[in-house]
Amino acid sequence: MFDGMPDLWKKSFQKEFEGKLRFTDSEEMRRRMASDHTEDLVFMPGMVVEPASTHEVQQVMKWAHANDVPVTPAGAMTGLSGGALPVEGGISLSTRRLNRIVTIDERNHQVVVEPGVIVQEMQEAVQARGLFYAVDPASRGSCTIGGNLAENSGGPRAVKYGVTKDWVLNLEVVLMDGSVIETGANTLKNSTGYNLTALMVGSEGTLGVITRATLKLLPWPRYTALMLVPFADAHSACRAVAEIFQQGNQPSALEFMERSAIELAAEYADMAPPAMEASTQAHLLIEVDGFDSAELMPQLERIYPAVNACGAGEPLLAEDEAAKNQLWRLRRVVGEAVKAASVYKEEDTVVPRGTLPELLAAVKAVGAKHGFESICYGHAGDGNLHVNILKRGVSEAAWEAELPVAIRSIFEKVVALGGTISGEHGIGWVQRPFMDLAFGSTELHLQRAIKAQFDPKGLLNPGKIWPMEVSKI
Ligand code: LAC
Ligand code: ZN
Repeated sequence: MFDGMPDLWKKSFQKEFEGKLRFTDSEEMRRRMASDHTEDLVFMPGMVVEPASTHEVQQVMKWAHANDVPVTPAGAMTGLSGGALPVEGGISLSTRRLNRIVTIDERNHQVVVEPGVIVQEMQEAVQARGLFYAVDPASRGSCTIGGNLAENSGGPRAVKYGVTKDWVLNLEVVLMDGSVIETGANTLKNSTGYNLTALMVGSEGTLGVITRATLKLLPWPRYTALMLVPFADAHSACRAVAEIFQQGNQPSALEFMERSAIELAAEYADMAPPAMEASTQAHLLIEVDGFDSAELMPQLERIYPAVNACGAGEPLLAEDEAAKNQLWRLRRVVGEAVKAASVYKEEDTVVPRGTLPELLAAVKAVGAKHGFESICYGHAGDGNLHVNILKRGVSEAAWEAELPVAIRSIFEKVVALGGTISGEHGIGWVQRPFMDLAFGSTELHLQRAIKAQFDPKGLLNPGKIWPMEVSKI
């Protein structure tokens, strides 16, 4: 029986690496690497390999290349598109032991890290030196920097500071044949050749295994203020988003949550929800930051007219650190809360932010047509709306038959609005059937040609990104 890897491969791997590398085919470890946070998918690898150095990664890749064995790089398995699932079995290459913060270069505002470092740990390590790594996905306490690089992760602060790709100067990458490259230089500017750094970031582990990254840091703006602004209808909350920027504001986070998202999160986290009027249907969670606490209130006060113009209710200002942490905790657990509430399907839609009201309206219209309930939340300031379609009472047959049609309708609208089908979670395994909406065949072929250049045998994270018909090219 195929259990992730034919015995012949397993024996050959064991013979080659016994006593030299850490690896296991234990059921428990393989199961751990068989699922991420995407729905309830399970794909067992045949073997979990845990290299502790670039050299060890090279050896594994060389062996896999020579023996035609699939390799799927994996971090903390917190992904939301199945990017690290070993869908064709073979080796799950865990970066867990590549977890050193190599250097914090205070003079040049850079940090060099291995891919298995937990993002929050890196943030705290640089903050201890007065420095700031801005990208903070909701899962920052458990996700790894390698996973963030693979998926080009974003998170709430992206609205002011950009996403992972904006902070990467240079990468060390092991290619499928075992060779090692550096993609750039540790400089703030670089106009030298094609930008391989940008190509690697967001390539979902299909082009190479990142073994080291040089990231750019900022001085730490340690003061923040946070307010929760209620709206009697979600459409007005979405309208307020573009208005805030048009009036010359630059919040450090601008998140949208439907009422149901907050209620679910509060229940899941066993927290009291913030006080809400019965009429409140949605909130914007707005943060500003600065180097001096005196910079904060003026920034918030400049935001009031924009939200008021769109019919906001009375804002709830977080009084102290504890109140801020509570609000952020509520926001960060929405994803987990939805997952715990029902079988669901999450779509990571992104549109130019001025068109957010149209996107939300379209999502609700599609839901009404197909009989699906949806909970929407996300990074409104980036036009990045996480659309969660809940199964709840829907029959198995209707779920199977209608869901792909409903998702396609939502994505068609996204593209018509000038958006695309993933803002920060990647295509991975689950969004492949919709790639034809994002790109035409010329673009898809070009992308496949890049893949073939890096991985001619198609062994590295196989089965990801492209729909089956393109994968065969
Ligand atoms: C969030 C994750 C799901 O924003 O991206 O909570
Ligand atoms: Zn998100």
